[in-house]
Amino acid sequence: MTTNDTQPDPGYFDVTCNQRAYRELLPDPVPEALIEKILTAGTHAPSARNLQPWHFVVVQDEDVRREIAGGTRAAWEGFAKGSIEDQTTPIFKEVDRWAMGGLAEAPVIIVVCGNTLIVGMEEMGSSIYPAAQNILLAASALGLGSLMSSLPIFAPDGAFAKILGLPEHIVPLATLPIGYPARKLGRPRRRPIAELTSRDHFDSSW
Ligand SMILES: Cc1cc2nc3c(=O)[nH]c(=O)nc-3n(C[C@H](O)[C@H](O)[C@H](O)COP(=O)(O)O)c2cc1C
Repeated sequence: MTTNDTQPDPGYFDVTCNQRAYRELLPDPVPEALIEKILTAGTHAPSARNLQPWHFVVVQDEDVRREIAGGTRAAWEGFAKGSIEDQTTPIFKEVDRWAMGGLAEAPVIIVVCGNTLIVGMEEMGSSIYPAAQNILLAASALGLGSLMSSLPIFAPDGAFAKILGLPEHIVPLATLPIGYPARKLGRPRRRPIAELTSRDHFDSSW
């Protein structure tokens, strides 16, 4: 293959640079074919030694979604909410609404888990989060809203593993609610690369 054989894909950059955290989702069901496309993208992520230690639990059942939202609320009220100093910002209000029960509105919640029989916890995150990111991008590419949250897995007393009936070697790491957006969000605000990048040496700016 030469550099002339490669074709740029502007669609990819459009999807990646517009990916946002969607907290308000419509209850409309997501077709099974789309869920499988999203999962396929997840399974095409890289992992250390190609061990693919992920396991996905796709939650659609309303009662289970409510239980997950209940655990999320407990984690939010129990420790996360109190750590946020300014509770008057629009983003705080949005997250608060979501964490106090809004999460259950998502018609699909994909829980990305790691299998500790395949990979130890010390390298689990680096092999699992690429799959979560692939899922977020695939959902965006299909016109769906999504969001990554680690909050539900901090539900007190291991509630999350109990809700999903996870065996001990399957560890939940990320919760990805997915559905059609209630409204389209604008472009994400991100720091410019020049602020975040060095050339050759830390002291040398880009
Ligand atoms: C590890 C991680 C945990 C997150 N946890 C939550 C969460 O618990 N609740 C929430 O509403 N958003 C959560 N988010 C989403 C972030 O708030 C969001 O990615 C960030 O604010 C950028 O938002 P934007 O993409 O809409 O610009 C989380 C994101 C990451 C990567």
